[in-house]
Amino acid sequence: MPPALEIAIKLLEKLPRPLRETIMPDMRIPPISNNPSKVQLVRIAHVHFEHPDLEKFSEFAKDFGFVEAHRINGRIYYRGYGRDPFIYVASHSPDGKPRFRGPAFVAASQDEFNKATKLDGAIIGSLDEAPGKGQIVTFNRPDKTFFHVIYGQEERITSAQEPSAIHDQLGPFNKPFEKPRRGKFQRCHEGPALVHKLGHFGYVVPDFDAELAWYTDNFNFVPSDILYHWDFSNMDVLTFMHLDLGKEYSDHHCFFMQRAEPRVKKTFLHHTSYEVEDFDTQLIGHNWLAKKGWKSVWGVGRHILGSQIFDYWADPSGFKIEHYADGDVVNQDTPTERDVVGSFSIWGPEVPKDFGEKGEIA
Ligand SMILES: [Fe+2]
Repeated sequence: MPPALEIAIKLLEKLPRPLRETIMPDMRIPPISNNPSKVQLVRIAHVHFEHPDLEKFSEFAKDFGFVEAHRINGRIYYRGYGRDPFIYVASHSPDGKPRFRGPAFVAASQDEFNKATKLDGAIIGSLDEAPGKGQIVTFNRPDKTFFHVIYGQEERITSAQEPSAIHDQLGPFNKPFEKPRRGKFQRCHEGPALVHKLGHFGYVVPDFDAELAWYTDNFNFVPSDILYHWDFSNMDVLTFMHLDLGKEYSDHHCFFMQRAEPRVKKTFLHHTSYEVEDFDTQLIGHNWLAKKGWKSVWGVGRHILGSQIFDYWADPSGFKIEHYADGDVVNQDTPTERDVVGSFSIWGPEVPKDFGEKGEIA
């Protein structure tokens, strides 16, 4: 946001709403829909981070519920129990600084991947060292973030039943009017919340309109929810986006983008999030991370938009990282909702004051 606009906002906030909204330039997100000219993506697959202390991160990863899949040349690949051969790459930071090196999304077909390779700025890379191999193309964005499209990975064979490090026996759940669990007991024990898959990530972006346009003009990201500023109904400040898969349902958001406040000069990662089985798993996983001495950020609670039960932690490099369960899924028939910024949880601990900030570096 230019400095002149920053000053203008401060002054305008003091005016009556009808006047300030007439003066404020229109900063609404334009209508966004998918069409076949865009590169079609089917899911988010993995993220890549650089950590100053890889061994420390490796301790955290185990307690968080990641499984180490492969280790090569100062790089560790972690998997969940879903189909992706890996969901998180941790590599040693060459300059000792923590760094987010971007998310990777799976193209819908070889043709869609080839389309991505023809976009401006596409850099063809290699996944030869990675579990599952496959093809990758990378985009270095002007705000020094990264975005990757992949295709052709060999997927994992998954089991029908979710594996668990904490359930001896769980479910079905007895409710007041129906008791389907008869003569069987709920039995759990301590342990990490095993992760299924990568679910979403989000950026806080100073050059919000241009970056959002790049992602939504080139790929099938479509807003599920848009939130606008409490003082200016013509200024959109956050959008949760899903991948449009037509009739097929996909997660309410795999990517969210927030308009940075004027004082933020550089795009930063807000958090990445990983799916776990259920509420019991989250709470037992929460206790496990606490017992191991890791730093809780916010949770356990339930979000309103997206509905997920959430639990945010700080990894040893200071990045916010979330466990979630029971998220919404949407499809082409789910309308985009637009509302004013409000509470982000229906229950749970009070949101920390610095939750919207960049993670503190440990
Ligand atoms: Fe999240």
